[in-house]
Amino acid sequence: MSALFQPFRLRQLTLPNRIVISPMCEYSAVDGCATDWHLIHLGSLAVSGAGLLIIEATAVEPRGRISRECLGIYSDENEAALRRVLDAVRRYSDMPIGIQLAHAGRKGSQRKPSDGRGNVPEAEGGWQTVGPSAIAFLPEWQTPREIDRAGMAAVIEAFVQAARRCARLGLDLIELHGAHGYLISSFLSPIANRRRDEYGGDLDNRMRFPLELFEAVRAAWPQERPLGIRFNGTDWDASGITATDAVAFACALKDAGCDYVDVSSGGNSVAPIPVGPGYQVPYAAQVKRASGLPTMAVGLIREPRHAEAIVANGEADLVALGRGILNDPRWPWHAAEELGGSVAFPHQYRRAVTREGIHQHFAASPTTGRPQG
Ligand SMILES: Cc1cc2nc3c(=O)[nH]c(=O)nc-3n(C[C@H](O)[C@H](O)[C@H](O)COP(=O)(O)O)c2cc1C
Repeated sequence: MSALFQPFRLRQLTLPNRIVISPMCEYSAVDGCATDWHLIHLGSLAVSGAGLLIIEATAVEPRGRISRECLGIYSDENEAALRRVLDAVRRYSDMPIGIQLAHAGRKGSQRKPSDGRGNVPEAEGGWQTVGPSAIAFLPEWQTPREIDRAGMAAVIEAFVQAARRCARLGLDLIELHGAHGYLISSFLSPIANRRRDEYGGDLDNRMRFPLELFEAVRAAWPQERPLGIRFNGTDWDASGITATDAVAFACALKDAGCDYVDVSSGGNSVAPIPVGPGYQVPYAAQVKRASGLPTMAVGLIREPRHAEAIVANGEADLVALGRGILNDPRWPWHAAEELGGSVAFPHQYRRAVTREGIHQHFAASPTTGRPQG
């Protein structure tokens, strides 16, 4: 019996298996509005057989976008555009769909990767970024404005309004983006947070804003729907977030009613990351052990047997796939074949699924003995 293909429950939501599609920015929105690309991209992934699809980092206010092309959920137009995509996808797939709510903080106002990345100054159509402290991500980047208490309250309110829009859209789950050096992550990291008030300094202070934000979203999001957060298990930098900090944050999140944690890493500095298969899994395992929270592991998990072992060994409850599932959008089908699991698939693709599926199809055509349709 495959562990990867066992269902998993988060509040009232049951995921049919442990395979999660990791949030991935598409840099294809217009003024924060989803486009036909999102229909194609999310539509394709929604028929992959995964247990949960998490929509890309979606900004709660315009300056919270990484780039001008990032998806947003801060206006009625954004909500309507996403509704169009979700309505179409849901006609053909009952895969649970979540969304990652985000604020880019001091890493906003960037060029999209296909335009060469890098910071866009205000003079060239970018915007003034904000951060916990007035410290630029890189020396050549603009210096963020240190966000004041009123600004922090406004950001929390933007997350709350975004959560209400997500509730109206019928989304099944929210994940807060607390990783990779964006606003929430930068509050947690001593690299970016040098505040002298009660939101900077020791870990209790650095966690204060992320936890207040989490609690406000939890209160605005329907009780039966799960709320989780992605954060860094490490900054890979001696002066940044450590694994011990990550564990303490997870324990505080548990007390705040967090349903799952998604453990990633890096992005508060340009310190090198020792990437390799499952390079972040030990951080997820440590957080899971110490906090007891349902935990998602991510990062170079490409082989079905590797994903199976992570869940079977109890290192994580859920496994998120990014590049691997873009490369092979039928990854869950192939994993099911290899591991002996079963996946949902659209009837249109029945003949392509598994030997068993094809056999069933032949059996359904007794008169000709040939596949139909
Ligand atoms: C194209 C692309 C876009 C991404 N966008 C996001 C994002 O919106 N939010 C996020 O937390 N991580 C983002 N990531 C990171 C992935 O979710 C994932 O954590 C990372 O790629 C490692 O997993 P993988 O090795 O399976 O790709 C992105 C990665 C890629 C390749």
